Amino acid sequence: MTTKLIGLLVLVGASTFFVMHVMSPPDGTDGGPGADAQEWEPPGRSYRDPLPFSKSEDCKGCHPDVWSEWYDSHHRIAYTNPEVQKLSTGFQGKGLDCLPCHLSRPMFETGFGVRPLERLTRREDGVDCFTCHYWPEGNAMLTSGPLGGAASQAPCQPAVTPSMASLQLCAPCHNQHKVHEDWKETRFAVKGDGFKDCNDCHMPTVERPNAAGGIRRGRSHRFPAAHDPGVLREAAAVTQSLSARSLFVTVHNSGVGHNLPSDERHRAVDLHLVLDTGDGRPYDVRIERWRNPYRDEFEAVNPLPNPGDAYEKTVTVPELLADVGVRVKRVPAPHRPNRKVWYPASTQIPAGEKRELSITLPDGVKAVTVRLWYRTNPFQPDKDAVLLHEKTLPE
Ligand code: HEC
Ligand code: HEC
Ligand code: HEC
Ligand code: HEC
Ligand code: HEC
Repeated sequence: MTTKLIGLLVLVGASTFFVMHVMSPPDGTDGGPGADAQEWEPPGRSYRDPLPFSKSEDCKGCHPDVWSEWYDSHHRIAYTNPEVQKLSTGFQGKGLDCLPCHLSRPMFETGFGVRPLERLTRREDGVDCFTCHYWPEGNAMLTSGPLGGAASQAPCQPAVTPSMASLQLCAPCHNQHKVHEDWKETRFAVKGDGFKDCNDCHMPTVERPNAAGGIRRGRSHRFPAAHDPGVLREAAAVTQSLSARSLFVTVHNSGVGHNLPSDERHRAVDLHLVLDTGDGRPYDVRIERWRNPYRDEFEAVNPLPNPGDAYEKTVTVPELLADVGVRVKRVPAPHRPNRKVWYPASTQIPAGEKRELSITLPDGVKAVTVRLWYRTNPFQPDKDAVLLHEKTLPE
């Protein structure tokens, strides 16, 4: 053995020691029970030369469609979003705690499946190409492949790992409100025909023109969700029937792979009735609201903690000096009849569950319009909210 080779072996040994003992994170973040660190499968190849890129805009020239989808997405504005800026007081003081998920270093740098760390550069890029694709150790941009022939010449040095399609890429940021735990409780998580994971719903397949004038299939980087009226209208199915003064309404979380509305505490789904007494004035009244309350709403309770529970209330319509009688029943999902809920005060509707409302209308109501609204915050007026459903009875 030459001295050179022995030197190399010592170096390899020393760097393994360094990686294992010096760089290993403190207890609790190294995959122990408290953390959710996952093994990931490193690609078969890595590259010698560092990538010649420093920002997401550098990808625009060759991946123009992916780039513009991402540019219009909420991932890109994760730092600049005025809502986030306001709540984090400009990411100052305690707001510094908000940085890791809203302005993130590469997931494959901090460790797969563990909470990311913040970066301090490229603020306008939020959660960017590097956050999700960049593997610094191998100087590569990762994909689950397969790669085409052009890849071997590509300056972004693509490399293939199945881990790129894993839910563990999204979980460190998105599971903080247990969206992944919720998803695991749904029929969409059962292997088979009906299986759908986060990417099946939020990165739908798109067809884009390729350089050769043909079509190339890719995945949408717009991440359509609660800011997309088309996606929202698929979320719930509503039925209604009217017999004399008795109105029967069901609201079914039929299309969401987790709770409706989702984890973000701002969101609200509201059932309204517009009563028509023939006097030419619409009487609009909110019958029920489904949401996860803010942490300081101490008085909030979920009246339906268990599947099968029911409760009754009256809702007053002051202008009519009349009451609407309401009985709400929680109908469990066939797939998960004994579903746990994580937040005791939350009235979010778990996937597959229904709410059945038996409503007694006041005397003198000639017609009623049933409306279901999605609000991105609980104070949002109708003109800015998305109307998920509307039906007037009798027809
Ligand atoms: C000069 C052109 C060029 C630039 C700039 C470029 N790429 Fe690429 N990239 C390619 C080509 C060509 C491929 C191979 C496509 C194929 O599989 O046929 C590719 C493949 C990829 C893949 C794998 C795609 C797949 O089909 O699974 C990813 C991910 C990727 N690039 C990310 C990036 C990112 C992120 C940047 C910016 C930091 C970037 N690229 C900049 C040309 C480029
Ligand atoms: C563990 C990761 C993580 C941390 C830490 C984090 N967030 Fe978020 N935040 C997310 C994710 C993921 C979303 C998108 C989920 C959603 O919209 O429901 C989000 C969404 C938001 C939104 C909604 C944006 C919109 O478009 O309406 C606001 C506002 C927000 N975060 C503020 C904050 C503030 C303020 C902090 C610090 C106190 C913070 N976040 C810390 C992951 C995180
Ligand atoms: C590094 C953290 C991070 C990772 C990784 C991440 N996200 Fe996000 N995601 C966020 C944040 C933060 C937001 C909210 C940004 C805002 O609205 O200001 C968000 C928003 C979203 C939204 C809502 C978009 C909208 O328009 O309302 C969806 C859907 C989403 N992410 C899906 C995913 C999926 C699927 C993955 C995995 C492939 C993923 N995210 C990976 C941090 C992350
Ligand atoms: C079967 C389709 C489906 C699956 C699977 C699914 N979602 Fe969703 N998701 C939706 C729909 C529909 C909405 C809009 C309604 C809502 O907010 O509940 C949504 C909303 C969201 C939002 C926006 C929340 C907000 O308040 O802005 C985020 C973030 C999100 N999903 C993340 C995920 C993640 C992470 C997974 C995987 C663990 C996932 N979703 C699985 C359909 C799905
Ligand atoms: C929130 C995480 C996330 C961000 C941000 C992100 N990607 Fe992706 N990207 C993915 C995932 C997940 C896939 C599909 C994974 C798979 O199956 O390989 C993907 C697929 C791709 C592909 C191949 C599929 C296609 O549609 O052509 C390219 C190319 C790509 N990304 C480039 C980029 C570029 C360039 C940026 C920045 C402008 C970017 N990505 C930002 C997560 C992300």
